[in-house]
Amino acid sequence: MEDKIKDYLKEINTFNEFDEKKVEAFRIKFLGRKGLIPALFDEFRQLEGDKKRLFGKPLNDLKQLASAKIEALKGASHASQKETNNLDLTRPAYSELPGTRHPVNIVKNEIVNIFERIGFNVSEGPEVEDDWHNFTALNFPEEHPARDMQDTFFVARNPDWALRTHTSSVQVRTMEKQKPPIRTISPGRVFRNEAISARSHCIFHQVEGLYVDKDVSFADLKQTLLYFAQEFFGPETKIRLRPSYFPFTEPSAEMDVYWGLENEVDYRMTKGTGWLEVLGCGMVDPSVLDNCGIDSKVYTGFAFGMGVERIAMQRYQISDIRYLFENDQKFLQQFQSAL
Ligand code: PHE
Repeated sequence: MEDKIKDYLKEINTFNEFDEKKVEAFRIKFLGRKGLIPALFDEFRQLEGDKKRLFGKPLNDLKQLASAKIEALKGASHASQKETNNLDLTRPAYSELPGTRHPVNIVKNEIVNIFERIGFNVSEGPEVEDDWHNFTALNFPEEHPARDMQDTFFVARNPDWALRTHTSSVQVRTMEKQKPPIRTISPGRVFRNEAISARSHCIFHQVEGLYVDKDVSFADLKQTLLYFAQEFFGPETKIRLRPSYFPFTEPSAEMDVYWGLENEVDYRMTKGTGWLEVLGCGMVDPSVLDNCGIDSKVYTGFAFGMGVERIAMQRYQISDIRYLFENDQKFLQQFQSAL
């Protein structure tokens, strides 16, 4: 019996005819009333108890395989014969998995929405930037060590071109084109020549914001950031600003939100301080305004910038940034959002 099952399996697996008559002959041979498989079932019924246990499943599998094969071949021959207008539209549709949004997009859209509600528009710019928009206009003079803060991918063909290291370059372009008041946020992909690890990647996304008008003050910046933090992290959220340095803002700061130690599932999140670093910000340096054709004696402005992956990791407790770039469906399907 074992040998017969093996032989039949082999024959069924290799049979590959689409001709209707041949498929029918094949069906009769294996599954017809006097066919090989019913004959095997007759043999099976004569077996003793423990042998029955041994062959029951293989035999059933064999029968199912034969029926499935015949169905598939019949389907294929019908499909090739039928004209499109003979399609059976009453057949139930195949169920398809609905797509889901990527967690980076969910978070980015949410950040953008929060700022749109207070009058910021969205601006975009090129990912391959020239030196002026990515560095020089932003107060990174040539050879200035601050350029090392953001290791850069240069374009081999043209040393003036690089993959943008931040979307501040888009803000330069906006200031060059528009007169104040300017209230804009620039979401987009940025690139840094960094070793890939659980915490950093050479590609990530930023949302940067810029507000330029008469009498814009640090108090406006702080209140705008508090509004953002409470919309995004919850109405009770506390923030703090720590002094920092960026070439294009003066003074500069970094904003932390209070996460609390009881939420610290991973020590690396707040390193035991309870405070989570969220973004960099500051008052636009007057010489940056002048570089972009905006009179710094009349106008002032604030700017801020945040990394979307980092915030997504905090929100969803994702321990390794690389999950965000692998497009593993099992990972992605955990994220559902209307946004
Ligand atoms: N461009 C900065 C960065 O990429 C972030 C930033 C934007 C800081 C605006 C201050 C003001 O890190």
